[in-house]
Amino acid sequence: MSKMKKVVVIGGTGLIGSKAVKLLQDAGHEAVAASSRNGINAYTGEGLEAALTGADAVIDVSNMMSLDKDVITDFFGTSSRNLTSAEQAAGVRHHVALSIVNADKLAANPYMAGKLAQEEAVASSGQAYTIVRATQFHEFIETLAGAYAADGVVKVPDIDFQPIAASDVAAALVEAALGEPKNGTVDLAGPERAPFESFIRAYLDAKGDGSPVTAVATVDYFGAPVAKGSLVPDGESIKGRVTVAEWLKA
Ligand SMILES: NC(=O)c1ccc[n+]([C@@H]2O[C@H](COP(=O)([O-])OP(=O)(O)OC[C@H]3O[C@@H](n4cnc5c(N)ncnc54)[C@H](OP(=O)(O)O)[C@@H]3O)[C@@H](O)[C@H]2O)c1
Repeated sequence: MSKMKKVVVIGGTGLIGSKAVKLLQDAGHEAVAASSRNGINAYTGEGLEAALTGADAVIDVSNMMSLDKDVITDFFGTSSRNLTSAEQAAGVRHHVALSIVNADKLAANPYMAGKLAQEEAVASSGQAYTIVRATQFHEFIETLAGAYAADGVVKVPDIDFQPIAASDVAAALVEAALGEPKNGTVDLAGPERAPFESFIRAYLDAKGDGSPVTAVATVDYFGAPVAKGSLVPDGESIKGRVTVAEWLKA
């Protein structure tokens, strides 16, 4: 086993963060599950100095949901500036942030604008970093199916989709944090690329929901116009292993 490290997981009680904390602990590392409810707040700065003392790396998987672009860009931008400056003060070697594939091209979607603000704050901070841009999680398909449903029909954008399991995302973040900073961005995607509607269909079938699902060229992605490749990596990417069928079965 490599030397034991201390990694602070900001958002360590959430979907991805709790899995990253467990992977780190199972591998013999010290993992701090940081969240505002346990007194470590990336947005206000509360508790950061103490939590970061002696840390080798930070994984930022904090999250907030808002459809207000100003609120969301302020949250991700301010949190990232607070974190990276506290990390520099504490001598933390590596900041790993989780963003979304093609966030820079989809900033008409307020949430993507927030992720872009996060990426820009990290990249301009002077702190050594790796930004991991993931595709949508398998666990997010339920939300998508609900968001695009109206009057008993699910109408989704006519685009490709390549979702990834939260467990694969957590594993990739842990590997990034224990490795050297890239001072750049890496893409992370699931093992299968297929039309968006096929994943929604598989999810609804597994639930026994026979609502029709259709792809419609004019449907956008929460405010951002999209084309075939908008949500999938357009170059090299790290691949997750768990398929949607395997995840649904589990
Ligand atoms: N959903 C997708 O398909 C997708 C795809 C790619 C990337 N992502 C990214 O994945 C990341 C993690 O998502 P998730 O689903 O794991 O999130 P989640 O389950 O909603 O968990 C969010 C975590 O952030 C913590 N948090 C919120 N505000 C905080 C603050 N001010 N300071 C410290 N911790 C704070 C929460 O705990 P408290 O409430 O106690 O603070 C919680 O632990 C997000 O950044 C998201 O943009 C998502």
